[in-house]
Amino acid sequence: MSENVVPAVINLDVPGPVINRHLYGHFAEHLGRCVYGGFYVGEDSEIPNEGGIRLDVVAALRALDIPNLRWPGGCFADEYHWTDGIGPRQGRPVMVNTHWGNVEENNHFGTHEFMLLCELLGAEPYISGNVGSGTVKEMSDWVEYLTRDGDSPMVRLRKANGRDEPWRVRFWGLGNEAWGCGGNMSAQQYAAEARRFGTYCRDHGDNKLYRIAAGANGADYAWTETLMRQYGELGCAYRPSSFMQALSFHFYTLSGPWRAKGSATAFDTDDYYRTLVQAARVDELITGHSNVMDCYDPGKSVGLVLDEWGTWYDVEPGTNPGFLYQQNTLRDALVAGVHFDVFHRHADRLIMANIAQTVNVLQAMILTDPESKALVLTPTYHVFEMNKGHQDAASLRVDLPAGLPERAAGDATLTTVSLSASRKDGQVLVSLSNLDAEQPADVELDLRGGTLTGVQARILTAGALQTHNTPDTPGAVAPRAHDGVTATAKGLRVRLPAHSFVTVAGRLA
Ligand code: AHR
Repeated sequence: MSENVVPAVINLDVPGPVINRHLYGHFAEHLGRCVYGGFYVGEDSEIPNEGGIRLDVVAALRALDIPNLRWPGGCFADEYHWTDGIGPRQGRPVMVNTHWGNVEENNHFGTHEFMLLCELLGAEPYISGNVGSGTVKEMSDWVEYLTRDGDSPMVRLRKANGRDEPWRVRFWGLGNEAWGCGGNMSAQQYAAEARRFGTYCRDHGDNKLYRIAAGANGADYAWTETLMRQYGELGCAYRPSSFMQALSFHFYTLSGPWRAKGSATAFDTDDYYRTLVQAARVDELITGHSNVMDCYDPGKSVGLVLDEWGTWYDVEPGTNPGFLYQQNTLRDALVAGVHFDVFHRHADRLIMANIAQTVNVLQAMILTDPESKALVLTPTYHVFEMNKGHQDAASLRVDLPAGLPERAAGDATLTTVSLSASRKDGQVLVSLSNLDAEQPADVELDLRGGTLTGVQARILTAGALQTHNTPDTPGAVAPRAHDGVTATAKGLRVRLPAHSFVTVAGRLA
């Protein structure tokens, strides 16, 4: 028997709040090789594509049931002028991407290309509008261009560019990181801007926007309070439409200070634990923002959106520091597993989360090789895939009569087992992570209110925490069947090897 035995009670017949599928959302910025070379290679590429969009990337993301894609930034969004990215590609102006490597941006990937990408993915678009350096009219026109039917100046322009039908766009971001790259504003300044911009982003026809105000940096609860106070004072809760339907915040997992964040692959066990301690802080932050929101909106009509999360390390040696390209190991998979457990527990308020970023940037799902053009699925990708059954499922509370095992990690304490569960269409899915680098753990699931049949388990682990996938070893970290689940009098015993992520699925009988 292993040292860590964790009893856990799940009442299968007591469904909790629904886990919004948009908690499994994505993010694509004009940054490094995320859009160009990642999603988009151009129509003349030898890589199979539709309208310039890589079909291998599309297929890999469709397999995750990708629910939404945020675009065009990030910091880039507040310098982006959408009219530069429409019309014949050769006539589009070139701009400088000042945030990310000072490279030239030819605007070949613009509104029509992004909407085609979303159609191919079967994902909802989440467009981040420009508040920092844009105008209210510019943003209002973009909404009209995308979503209006009938006849209007923007509808005519869209039709002239080859698209007759309006698109449907629900998620609309009012700027990004307004406290920093999005304009260096105070919370009061931004709240006033959000009110103005949000007001003129109109609902055209039956297209109803879900306006997401740019929120706090990490634990800046005062920012959230300022926005929520404005929401309350304007009486927004009592009107069918208001300047915002949700607000966001960003939280990245760093394993060191900004100037020395550490390597994505060359790390030791202390670095590993430090990273997981940081990742687990996401619970404290969501709780903190939710508490503030509850004071102004106890009915939870305003959504909380974590539209940037993930690990952020030093860039890979020899790559452009402005491109934020990093490898992805088993450590990243466990960071993702912990985040999802926390997201599921906060399903009553947290309605969307977007990992930064989907391809070739930060904690990516997919890495594409610039030379061979090969595509590699990362360990993080596999957690999204193994967990996709939680999308739109009812969360199931996990009660822990004896608590969870802990271990010292530097000055902090790390809870080393994490788990969450859900139920959808008679199917139960339990996700479990063992973060201990050396010790296995056994979770004794006491399943009440039903039994599970046809139980199947999968595991994601590797010999070393640093294991990662490359074009030469694409399957070094990949899910496989797990034979460590046994039936007990009360339910199931699940063996979790050291540093592993496990899913257990079964049919409710
Ligand atoms: O994801 C990279 C950058 O991180 C985004 O552009 C910005 O919003 C954040 O600071």
